[in-house]
Amino acid sequence: MRIGDVDVRGLARLAPMAGATNAPFRLVARECGSGLTTTEEMDAASILHETPHAVSATAYYPAERPVAMQLLGKDAEALAAAAARCEALGADVVDLNMGCPVPKITGKGKGAALMRDVPAAARILRAMRAAARIPLTIKIRGGWDDAHLNAVEVAEMAEAEGVDAITVHPRTRAQQFTGKAPWTIIAEVVDAVRIPVTGNGDVHTMADARRMMAETGCRSVMIGRGALGRPWVFDEGYDALPPISRRAYRARVIARHVDLIQEHCSEKYALIQLKKHLSWYTEGLGHARECRVALFQARSADEVWEIFQRYWARAEREHAPVLEPATA
Ligand SMILES: Cc1cc2nc3c(=O)[nH]c(=O)nc-3n(C[C@H](O)[C@H](O)[C@H](O)COP(=O)(O)O)c2cc1C
Repeated sequence: MRIGDVDVRGLARLAPMAGATNAPFRLVARECGSGLTTTEEMDAASILHETPHAVSATAYYPAERPVAMQLLGKDAEALAAAAARCEALGADVVDLNMGCPVPKITGKGKGAALMRDVPAAARILRAMRAAARIPLTIKIRGGWDDAHLNAVEVAEMAEAEGVDAITVHPRTRAQQFTGKAPWTIIAEVVDAVRIPVTGNGDVHTMADARRMMAETGCRSVMIGRGALGRPWVFDEGYDALPPISRRAYRARVIARHVDLIQEHCSEKYALIQLKKHLSWYTEGLGHARECRVALFQARSADEVWEIFQRYWARAEREHAPVLEPATA
């Protein structure tokens, strides 16, 4: 799939997730096969004021490219200036967040609240379109709530304003992340516009991704929670590997991710990131709950890594007979 002149690559790509999809995790996902990745949401004002958080969130590895930067805001002028700033920072695509359901964001008229006032959203997109030459995309929800399911109306408006692609997470703002994502809304948006549509919501495997594409006609798929602790989900060949190779693959990816976190993040942030991501990596490992408790009590990056490796080695020992080749 292409977004403007950007080749998205890959069937599925990592969804933006605040606090998780920073440069190390995005690069690991990319190396596992994710297409175009997206930074976590960043307020337009933070970008323009170059706050430490915005500087860290917009940092990316050259090997990640193409990379999309996602903006949050409601002021057309600020969002337009921030879009131009993203372009200057090297973003390949700029994305407007129209789906964040968090009350402290929607309460300020940002995120999913933009879907409530379509003419105002059109003015914002027009200003952003005029300010940046790179492709412009939006990420929307099904609507504000069940009484206001206007994803199709918003998508049609966005296409008319020159938006290059749309991602649809079809839950409403009221649903937050609960219940099942109604994929039929993705199909309705696909039918309504000619620009490429990416589907998102409840995809945990490549088989789910293919099913979403077949059922909705979307051109690519974004995976969010299904990629936390499982970036290998983006590797189409992963499921066909024998268990012993899958385990070695996972070990390699986790070690790489740990190295990247330590290289990229400040000492304090690295500790938080290691605890978070290594906890997600314990999913499916023996004694996961016990391991997570120990991880969160650790005081240094070395200690966190040492604890994880100890539990990993223990799981390896306990599962060893299962992992022996059949001929052994
Ligand atoms: C912890 C967390 C943080 C998120 N942060 C963002 C964000 O910064 N920008 C955004 O557009 N969506 C964000 N989302 C929504 C995801 O991108 C995605 O739309 C949602 O999780 C549904 O996809 P999934 O079922 O594959 O997880 C976030 C979701 C989670 C769970």
